[in-house]
Amino acid sequence: MPNATPDGVPREGLTIHTLPLGPWDNFIYLLADEATKTCAVVDPAWHAPSILQEAQRLDLKITHILCTHSHFDHVNRVEKLVEALDIPVHMLRPEIEFSGYRCENLVPSSPGDTLRVGKHVDVTMMHTPGHTPGSCSYRLRDAIVTGDTLFVDGCGRCDFVGGDPEQMHQTLQTLLDKLPGDTVMYPGHDYGPTASAPLAQQRSTNPYLQHKTVADFVAHRMQGKTPNTGLSRPPDWVPEDS
Ligand SMILES: [Fe+2]
Repeated sequence: MPNATPDGVPREGLTIHTLPLGPWDNFIYLLADEATKTCAVVDPAWHAPSILQEAQRLDLKITHILCTHSHFDHVNRVEKLVEALDIPVHMLRPEIEFSGYRCENLVPSSPGDTLRVGKHVDVTMMHTPGHTPGSCSYRLRDAIVTGDTLFVDGCGRCDFVGGDPEQMHQTLQTLLDKLPGDTVMYPGHDYGPTASAPLAQQRSTNPYLQHKTVADFVAHRMQGKTPNTGLSRPPDWVPEDS
């Protein structure tokens, strides 16, 4: 039953390795083609040596960097990895235009673009705006990596600059409508009772997926929040990259 396999167990040649890292409970993912021992890294942040060592431990060669969005807690080690590996960095064009994000080897991508990792793993870029205008979720066979769009029993904030709770509501509806319920969701932060969860389970337990109207969702998501809030400053946690 490949759909229910826990982290680290091959699903028809694809393995999703999860690396918890940093002071804000980020998840960094290695999306691996087991046959060729190659992988894409999603949202490399906080400590490049930990990411490189994890790939080495798993005997994986990193061939792509995939960014779900431009917030610094998801991209702050992209440049270190590009320096070390000289590989392409994918981010959706609307996110690049919104944020002004730049780095070496940046590939502006379009919604629906599919890239191949190794020989067997296809990753499709889904535009999932709401947390930021160009947020991307990465769709694989029976899994989706959602960044700060959807968490286990939560969803991304919409009060930061570029956030839009009405767009977020539409995005979440689209994810539920278009993807099979047994699709396993891998979020950008470890905020829930489990690291990942099937969408069908989220449909029943995630409080942000229970609202009948857009207005109810917006009121819940923006409760106590001020639109156009700046991102928090990074804490002093960050260790040296040596
Ligand atoms: Fe974010």
